[in-house]
Amino acid sequence: VRAVWLREFGAPASLRVETVPDPVAAPGQVLIGVEFAGITWIETMFRGSGFGPFPAPPMIPGNGVGGTVLAAGSATDEHLVGKRVVAGTGGSGGYAERVVVDAGQVIEVPAGVALDDATALLADGRTALMIMEAAGVRAGDRVLVEAAAGGVGSLLVQLAHAAGAEVVAAAGAARKLEVARGLGARTTVDYGDLGWTETVRAAVGGVDVVLDGVGGAVAEAAFELLGPGGRMISFGFSGGAGWPDVPDEVAAQRGIRVQRGVFGPAEEQIRRTGEALALAAEGRLRPVIGQRFPLEQASLAHAAMEDRATVGKTLLTCGVPD
Ligand SMILES: NC(=O)c1ccc[n+]([C@@H]2O[C@H](COP(=O)([O-])OP(=O)(O)OC[C@H]3O[C@@H](n4cnc5c(N)ncnc54)[C@H](OP(=O)(O)O)[C@@H]3O)[C@@H](O)[C@H]2O)c1
Repeated sequence: VRAVWLREFGAPASLRVETVPDPVAAPGQVLIGVEFAGITWIETMFRGSGFGPFPAPPMIPGNGVGGTVLAAGSATDEHLVGKRVVAGTGGSGGYAERVVVDAGQVIEVPAGVALDDATALLADGRTALMIMEAAGVRAGDRVLVEAAAGGVGSLLVQLAHAAGAEVVAAAGAARKLEVARGLGARTTVDYGDLGWTETVRAAVGGVDVVLDGVGGAVAEAAFELLGPGGRMISFGFSGGAGWPDVPDEVAAQRGIRVQRGVFGPAEEQIRRTGEALALAAEGRLRPVIGQRFPLEQASLAHAAMEDRATVGKTLLTCGVPD
C-alpha cells in the first residue's frame, strides 16, 4: 500500500509517497482501509520544525483517519470489521491507504453522517467542543473567533451562534469572512487591516469571549477588546509567534480569565468526537471541507495550509485503487 513519509523535517516537499508493506493488526488493534486522512495545523508545524507531540522522522504523519475496518487482531474486536469508522492513530500513520490503530480509538460513524464529514470532525469537532466548554459561552455573549473560516474556527462560529452568542468572525481574507457569515457570524473583520479592533468596537462595543487559535499580535490585540468577566481561550498559534504575551497579573487585574491550551484525557477526546458526530447526525454541526488532495499531493495540501490558502478542513483522499 502507499503511504506518505516524512524522512526529515523540512518544506512541504519533504512529504513523499512510498510503497510500504501492508500493516497487520496485532492483538488489540484493528486494520483500517483509509478513505480520508485529516490534516491539522500542528502537523504542518511538526513537519517544518519538529514542534508537536509526534514521533520523530522517519515517520508517516497523520493523526486521524476515516475508513472501513478491514480486520481485527483480537476476536473480541471482530464485531468492528466492516464498520465505517473514524479513529485517532496515536500520532502517526494516518497519511496512508491502510493503518492499524488501537481498537479503543475506533469510533463508529453514525448513520446519516458522510465519512468525509466524520473525518473532518474527528479532531476539529472535539477540539471545538472542548474550547466552547472552557470558554463557558452563554446566550448573549459577544464571541470573537480568530481564523474563523479554518477547520476549528468554522465549527466554533457555528457552535457559538447555536449557543445564542453574537459571533464576531476575524480572518485573513474576504472570502473567508463570507464563509464565516454563512455559518452565523454577524460581524466580520479582516485582522490584516490596521485598526481592526476599532472596527469590532464600533460594531459591538467590546467582546466577552476571545477564541484564539492564532496567537501573537492578533491575540494580544483581541485581548484588549475584553472587559471584566471576559474569557480568553488560546488553543494554538498558527500565526507563528507563539502564545500571546498576556501576563496573568494583567488579566487578573482586569478580571479576565485566560486559559492556554485545551486538554483532556483520551477517553474525553473520544467522547467529545462522539458528541460532534451526534450533532452532525442531527444536522446541528456541519464541517466545512474546503479542499481535498489525493495522497500523493500531501505536500501541496501542507503548502496550501501554510499559505493561508485553505478554507475549513483539508482532507487527503486515500482509497486503495481497485
Ligand atoms: N485541529 C485540531 O484539532 C486542533 C487541536 C488543538 C489545537 N488546534 C489549534 O487550532 C488552530 C487552528 O487549527 P486548524 O487545524 O483548524 O487550522 P486552520 O485554522 O484550518 O488553519 C490555520 C489558519 O490560521 C490562520 N493564520 C493566521 N496567521 C497565519 C500564518 N502566519 N500562517 C498560516 N496561517 C495563519 C489562517 O487563517 P486566516 O488566513 O483566516 O488568518 C489559517 O487558515 C491552530 O492554532 C491549531 O494548532 C487545532
